[in-house]
Amino acid sequence: MDQYAIFGHPIKHSKSPFIHTLFAKQTMQQMHYQAIKVPINDFKERLQLFFSEDGKGCNVTVPFKEEAFKFAQQLTERAQLAGAVNTLKLTDDGVIIGDNTDGAGLVLDLKNNHIDISNHRILLLGSGGAARGVCGSILDEKPAQLVIANRTYSKAQALATNFSKIGNIKACEFQYLSGEFYLIINATSASLSGELLPINKQLIRPETAIYDMMYSQEPTVFNNWAKEHGARLIIDGLGMLVGQAAESFSIWRGIKPGTKQVLTELRYNLST
Ligand code: ATR
Repeated sequence: MDQYAIFGHPIKHSKSPFIHTLFAKQTMQQMHYQAIKVPINDFKERLQLFFSEDGKGCNVTVPFKEEAFKFAQQLTERAQLAGAVNTLKLTDDGVIIGDNTDGAGLVLDLKNNHIDISNHRILLLGSGGAARGVCGSILDEKPAQLVIANRTYSKAQALATNFSKIGNIKACEFQYLSGEFYLIINATSASLSGELLPINKQLIRPETAIYDMMYSQEPTVFNNWAKEHGARLIIDGLGMLVGQAAESFSIWRGIKPGTKQVLTELRYNLST
């Protein structure tokens, strides 16, 4: 049977095996998907072994996305721009292609939430791997402007330079953020440590939607803060997780699974 997997460290809490098993059932694909915990220095060897057996494709998560980027024999344009790979596929010709589906997953989830970002001003908070992975897909939707803000301003500037050929993108320091944003995306890891970002609450207007790429059983600190200040819509990253998985699945199997039912089940599992 065709084998698929997610490689990471740690990997115990990965929801990917659950998601892909449901996708396979839904689309009647004969395949098996498992989580594989890889010792930090063993990524390349483990991956080579996987593809030399029945491995047809895999997801890669923290901390191996940059290593997967180097491992791939060919890269899609979006993976090149992101500088990181979360999806590898072995083609029938024996070539391992690296892709990055994080941005597509975000955009799919925005659409599922009826958020159309074209011609709107969007704010992206953060400039680490998570932010970098979604910039290209956001710009592909042709927002009026994408503003990137980050605690370390130089990283926001570097990101804006990297993506400036795709669309209207500019860097800004947290303290100088102003004006109206249709959507504010939190791609920092501040929610993990329960920290609030030093941004002005007046950025939240009645028309502003909020998206925290993190998710947890309880609403994230950022989403609670945004709700308190009147955001019209508050979303966490669980739908993006399902969205990026759906995109990977479709790259491997050539069939796009539905995400709604899977997301409902995941949400239910998270709450119990
Ligand atoms: P990831 O892969 O999740 O993006 P990362 O590459 O380590 O992880 O990036 C973490 C991001 O969250 C960075 O943008 C970081 O800001 P710096 O570049 O200034 O380090 C941001 N971040 C993390 N904790 C933060 C906090 N408490 N306040 C503001 N930004 C924070």
